[in-house]
Amino acid sequence: MISVELLLVSIFLFSLTPIAKTSRVPSVPSCRFSPQYSRDDVLTNPDAFVWDLLYWEGRFHQNNIRYNSANGMTYDGTLLDPGTGLNNLGGLHPFSAASKESLHIMVLAHCIAGDPLAARFFSPEKPEQAAAIAFDIMQKKLEAYLKFNQTYPGFGGFLPWFVSNETDIRPTSDWVNRVPALDNGELLWAVYGVIEALDSSENSKYQRLAKQWQVWLDYAKHTSAEVFYNGTGRVCAVTSISNQSNPIGGFNQSYTCEGNNTLNDPYEGELFNWWLHLFSPSLTVTDKSDLWATKRPQLVSVDWHSNASIGDITVQRGYWFSSHEQWKILELPYLDVPLIKRLYHNAERVRTCNAYLTKNPGMYASVNNITDSTGQILGYISNAGIPSISSQTVQELNVITPYSVFPTILFNQSVGLIWWKNMVDGKGMQNPYGSTESERIDGNGISSFVSWDSKITTIAAILGGVQNLVREKMKRDGVYQEFLDVSQREHERVFGSNLKGDEVELCLPEAKVPVTGAVMDYESCG
Ligand SMILES: *[C@@H]1O[C@H](CO)[C@@H](O)[C@H](O)[C@H]1NC(C)=O
Ligand SMILES: *[C@@H]1O[C@H](CO)[C@@H](O)[C@H](O)[C@H]1NC(C)=O
Ligand SMILES: *[C@@H]1O[C@H](CO)[C@@H](O)[C@H](O)[C@H]1NC(C)=O
Ligand SMILES: *[C@@H]1O[C@H](CO)[C@@H](O)[C@H](O)[C@H]1NC(C)=O
Ligand SMILES: *[C@@H]1O[C@H](CO)[C@@H](O)[C@H](O)[C@H]1NC(C)=O
Ligand SMILES: *[C@@H]1O[C@H](CO)[C@@H](O)[C@H](O)[C@H]1NC(C)=O
Ligand SMILES: *[C@@H]1O[C@H](CO)[C@@H](O)[C@H](O)[C@H]1NC(C)=O
Ligand SMILES: *[C@@H]1O[C@H](CO)[C@@H](O)[C@H](O)[C@H]1NC(C)=O
Ligand SMILES: *[C@@H]1O[C@H](CO)[C@@H](O)[C@H](O)[C@H]1NC(C)=O
Repeated sequence: MISVELLLVSIFLFSLTPIAKTSRVPSVPSCRFSPQYSRDDVLTNPDAFVWDLLYWEGRFHQNNIRYNSANGMTYDGTLLDPGTGLNNLGGLHPFSAASKESLHIMVLAHCIAGDPLAARFFSPEKPEQAAAIAFDIMQKKLEAYLKFNQTYPGFGGFLPWFVSNETDIRPTSDWVNRVPALDNGELLWAVYGVIEALDSSENSKYQRLAKQWQVWLDYAKHTSAEVFYNGTGRVCAVTSISNQSNPIGGFNQSYTCEGNNTLNDPYEGELFNWWLHLFSPSLTVTDKSDLWATKRPQLVSVDWHSNASIGDITVQRGYWFSSHEQWKILELPYLDVPLIKRLYHNAERVRTCNAYLTKNPGMYASVNNITDSTGQILGYISNAGIPSISSQTVQELNVITPYSVFPTILFNQSVGLIWWKNMVDGKGMQNPYGSTESERIDGNGISSFVSWDSKITTIAAILGGVQNLVREKMKRDGVYQEFLDVSQREHERVFGSNLKGDEVELCLPEAKVPVTGAVMDYESCG
């Protein structure tokens, strides 16, 4: 069969304009580039590795793989043929959520801000067009969001899990009249970041789009408490809407928390609490103080015991200690607080050194399980992390995923990439859309799937998250100092006196995923 590389090269040549033909044809890296690099290559010159990685992860960004070019909206992901690695199974997940939107928008923000790394991801053939591509997607996305708000005003502008394969989006059947806070918190701060990028552009068209998005964001400031705030510091994890088609604020509309689950976690869910705290016009000073009081019991200091010369390291207790829990540091400038920076660096010391000491070839994050012989996903493994430093100690620890490295990358890109490489070097872990979802530690299976969560968290981290954009806008909106003060106050109470282990080096992997014969490299990415 024709290799995908050749196919791509010929597409590029075909699409080149006569003018561009005279310029250098961009070189296409090998689809299976990762094993071609040594660990030292990555340690001493991560840039070359990153350049190839961005190229291939960017192949995920195609119509009917990761997004719908008709409306700019994300798709959760797509199954791959277990033999070829191509997307020909009819395995598209036609749905998505605000969390996937947040990843998309974070990368779009960098592209609009002119970051050449983001341009490499979106448009490696014509990097000079990348910002215009991103602008166009952000414009279509806004249309889809506004139309959704018009059709389903009961959501107050927020997004449930939605069906994405049509021009207009609608709630998936299991999210009719329901909306989650956590994913929307992730979305709001990503939009906040992209507005900063659009607004900083010289181009008045971009500035106009910034203002239009700001209207959407301002609306979410006004509706956030009505939809999600339950009083006395309680935020609904999922809100039940009496009728999504009725307008917010009317006599025939009401909101209640679904079940007893409140959004009181000190992890990524906190992004929504910050939105309420900093921007809801309805919250009183008492409400704001209650918001943090409700969360306090969950913010716990715990020491990881290495049983080795590494010694003990103090971290914030995890829920599972899945990397997914660190999503918030991609978005808000938490690391501007020195104590939090030390604490989150410690988390990566523990994540990497625990994996090294337990001879794990990779690390853990909540992820899709492997696919079976018919190519179907067996389930979703939420409970994957480090049990000894988590509140939830019953965990399933057979499957590792490349994206577990994203918080490590925020502290030391080379070390994070070496762990990524160590996982991706496993059989079948590269495909024509970049890295593969997950793999078993024993080498007996992979998840023949690609998704936003397992891929683009890493890209967002390589780009540094949107915290730099968000910080600038927070300063202009006059909320930055409050963010620092409250963050410092909450962490000082728990971690202020004694943080052990912050001189420890991050660890590098030694074990490899065994080659068992159960998994082969994809035919299209050998
Ligand atoms: C979109 O996906 C849904 C759910 O799988 C399906 O019911 C619907 O027919 C699809 N619509 C289009 C236009 O493909
Ligand atoms: C959302 O819909 C409501 C009700 O129709 C409307 O008042 C509001 O302005 C809309 N929000 C945005 C951002 O357009
Ligand atoms: C809070 O949620 C409960 C359900 O958990 C509901 O009965 C109550 O009306 C809600 N109160 C407010 C103020 O939203
Ligand atoms: C929800 O509201 C819409 C429009 O206001 C109405 O047509 C529909 O019947 C309502 N649904 C239910 C279940 O009451
Ligand atoms: C719900 O109330 C709004 C005004 O608050 C009204 O416009 C709408 O017609 C009402 N819908 C139903 C189904 O009663
Ligand atoms: C909510 O908590 C109360 C008190 O702990 C309990 O009685 C009730 O059954 C819980 N409701 C749900 C839906 O879990
Ligand atoms: C340290 O030893 C304990 C008890 O044997 C074990 O549960 C834990 O996993 C070990 N930690 C590491 C990092 O090996
Ligand atoms: C994951 O797959 C393994 C088989 O490889 C199975 O034993 C386990 O129950 C699955 N777990 C989930 C959550 O799907
Ligand atoms: C990253 O870690 C490597 C290996 O421990 C080290 O050599 C390098 O100095 C670190 N880089 C940064 C920026 O800390």
